[in-house]
Amino acid sequence: MLVLGIETSCDETSVAVVENGRKVLSNIISSQVPIHEKFGGVVPEIASRNHVEVISNVMKKALEEAKVELKNIDAIACTYGPGLVGALLVGVSYAKALSYASNKPLVGTNHIEGHIAANYITHKDLQPPFIAMIISGGHTHLVHIKDYKTFEILGKTRDDAIGEAFDKVARVIGLGYPGGPKIDKLAKEGNTSIELPKTHLDSLDFSFSGIKTAVINLNHKNPNVDKADLSASFEKTVTDILLENTLKAAKSLKLKTIVLAGGVSANSYIRERFMELEKTQGMKIYYPSPVLCTDNAAMIASAGYYNYINGITSGLELNAEPNLKLT
Ligand code: KG4
Ligand code: ZN
Repeated sequence: MLVLGIETSCDETSVAVVENGRKVLSNIISSQVPIHEKFGGVVPEIASRNHVEVISNVMKKALEEAKVELKNIDAIACTYGPGLVGALLVGVSYAKALSYASNKPLVGTNHIEGHIAANYITHKDLQPPFIAMIISGGHTHLVHIKDYKTFEILGKTRDDAIGEAFDKVARVIGLGYPGGPKIDKLAKEGNTSIELPKTHLDSLDFSFSGIKTAVINLNHKNPNVDKADLSASFEKTVTDILLENTLKAAKSLKLKTIVLAGGVSANSYIRERFMELEKTQGMKIYYPSPVLCTDNAAMIASAGYYNYINGITSGLELNAEPNLKLT
């Protein structure tokens, strides 16, 4: 079964063709990072306009690279939330028009489910149940994935998403946008000697606004603070928190499989620390290949495939849902 995936929830316009939810035939990503870089973050209106400009070409390339025609596609999956409403609307409208014109089923797909599904593409052996730690620019969710379509949220952030904290810290210490990959790189040159606050909540929820503010204040009080040490210490502290909650959840549910997902799962230090659990706790750790960590349409085609084979399709009344929840 061939699913065409369409992703426009933020600042990447992407179209992909994926076979049986796991095999990527094409995954074209047109990134707007250079356009938004000068503003220090994504400008929603500019993002929507750009999606409109490039989506037809991205779609054409995706079909060409996959060596298929629209008539060979079995279903059209598109992200309908969560994300920026104007950006989402471009992909949703495009998918609806394609579905109507080609008489193919339309499958509205949740972006967060897409991030989880990125692991099904990278790891052909991966099957639920497992615990997913979804860490992205917009989300920090600890989820029990019971099967392909049954999820239970165990914990989530009460304030900033972890990616937001990475981006804000990077901006404050002068690294620019997007900050996550820049902190990742700089932290390798520093040590973790700077003490930063860890917010412990009495549930599996997260809070990153305290550490974000602490870094901002520290940098403000002492502009000469070593930026590499600050980056390394920030990374270490947030990773400690992620690990603590993930381990608690895994132990209480007696699950040994942990899956990282979302843009921040590209972080090399976070990956390393989670990988240590394989040796120390006998766990099995999965994370997506780098290109599948950040936003892309292959992950949407994969999640869309699991929707479709579970009988979930959408009508032409499908709308963008900027605050769409996972459950
Ligand atoms: O999943 P994603 O592409 O978009 C959302 O759905 O939010 O995640 C983007 C986030 C940004 O905050 C970016 O800074 C972060 O992922 N990111 C990283 C790394 N690569 C991307 N954060 C830390 N280390 C990285 N290597
Ligand atoms: Zn995302």
